[in-house]
Amino acid sequence: MSSATEFDPLSPAMLENPFPVYAELQEKDPVFWHEKVGAWIITRYEDCRDVLMNAELFVRDPRRVGEVSGDTDASIQTLEAERQSELRRLIIGSIHSQDLKEIGGSVRSCIDRIFDNVAAEPSFDWMVEVAAPLAGTITAEFLGVRQPDPRIFKAIGEGMARKFDADLGENDAEAGRRIREGFGALVDMWLNAEDTHGTMLTLKERAAELGVPLPVIKNSVGLLFIGSYGTIYASSGNLVRLLIERPDVFAELRNPDLLSTGIDEFIRYDGPTQATSRVATRTTEIRGVTIQQGDPVFIVLAAANRDPDQFPRPHELVLDRKPNKHLGFGWGPHSCVGSLFGQLALGELVRALHDAPALRMTGTPVRLPTTTVRSIASLPVSFQG
Ligand code: HEM
Repeated sequence: MSSATEFDPLSPAMLENPFPVYAELQEKDPVFWHEKVGAWIITRYEDCRDVLMNAELFVRDPRRVGEVSGDTDASIQTLEAERQSELRRLIIGSIHSQDLKEIGGSVRSCIDRIFDNVAAEPSFDWMVEVAAPLAGTITAEFLGVRQPDPRIFKAIGEGMARKFDADLGENDAEAGRRIREGFGALVDMWLNAEDTHGTMLTLKERAAELGVPLPVIKNSVGLLFIGSYGTIYASSGNLVRLLIERPDVFAELRNPDLLSTGIDEFIRYDGPTQATSRVATRTTEIRGVTIQQGDPVFIVLAAANRDPDQFPRPHELVLDRKPNKHLGFGWGPHSCVGSLFGQLALGELVRALHDAPALRMTGTPVRLPTTTVRSIASLPVSFQG
């Protein structure tokens, strides 16, 4: 059996630990066509980074191949280069103009409140009781909107993750579309609300001035939501599991100098965005393999982040790793606009855990069965000894 046929991202073994398969692919089959995923799978750091960098040859939106999509579908991810970078500058400017220290303070109070609610529980599900409300509060804070019921955010977040898989022909495309419609209604409500502030207000006021049409703003808000909610939800689960299983790492992170490089290293080592995809606008080659115009390319960021040619000791968590040019926040023109925010949230989470009673696992974690997001679906834990 070739390594390519063993690549089954939804198999329980790969959901739990995909890295041995990635290492084998990097060595034997760094560029191969996968029938079920319906895409070229690439796993080497250099190839993944080059594809992400070349946003003209490899586009995010399949509809851009041959024809440019209309504003109804466009977003910050799919706009043509000039307008995309204007919108990106607007969002990044809005993030940087916020008082991160103040936001850090309110993130910390939110975590403390959530911890108080579960402090006495003999067992609770971290993903339901902590990850979901934490990701929801932080995302609402960042967007400058009122937060709906955390259960609505959680359903939308998980549905969006399934939609990304559906874009690749996996899972239930219809369910993904329904979630998108429901979320559209929520964005409409936020845009019309009088009490929006922060990034949402900036987008509402300034994007129109820049001539960015309303549907593009709406779709971009959707992307900001899933970019923020989905990654903070997933990474808080991955991180807390790692900290429980690695008390040495948990102790070392008490050193403030190690905390920021340590969080960044965690994103390299076990980040929430397992993979992303692009479509070739022209026939081209990757590592001598012909990629036809219109072919999807599945970029396995998590594999690239463990490439031994780029990272010495790739399978070790090196808290002060430098340099650390990982792809966990993407790379190039579509790299993450909220990385600062994501790192801040995870840093506050680690600090709060240091100040709380020891957290322990009370059952077996269950993985969320998605191809593109690496997340836990259920993580039973307790603060009670
Ligand atoms: C631990 C936290 C986070 C991780 C690991 C992460 C990861 C990523 C990755 C890998 C990409 C590139 C996707 C691609 O190239 O296809 C990306 C893009 C993006 N992220 Fe994040 N992200 C995080 C937090 C956030 C937050 C908090 C926000 C919102 C404020 C956000 C908003 C976005 C947006 C809007 C894009 C698309 C940018 C564009 O296409 O120009 N992310 N993120």
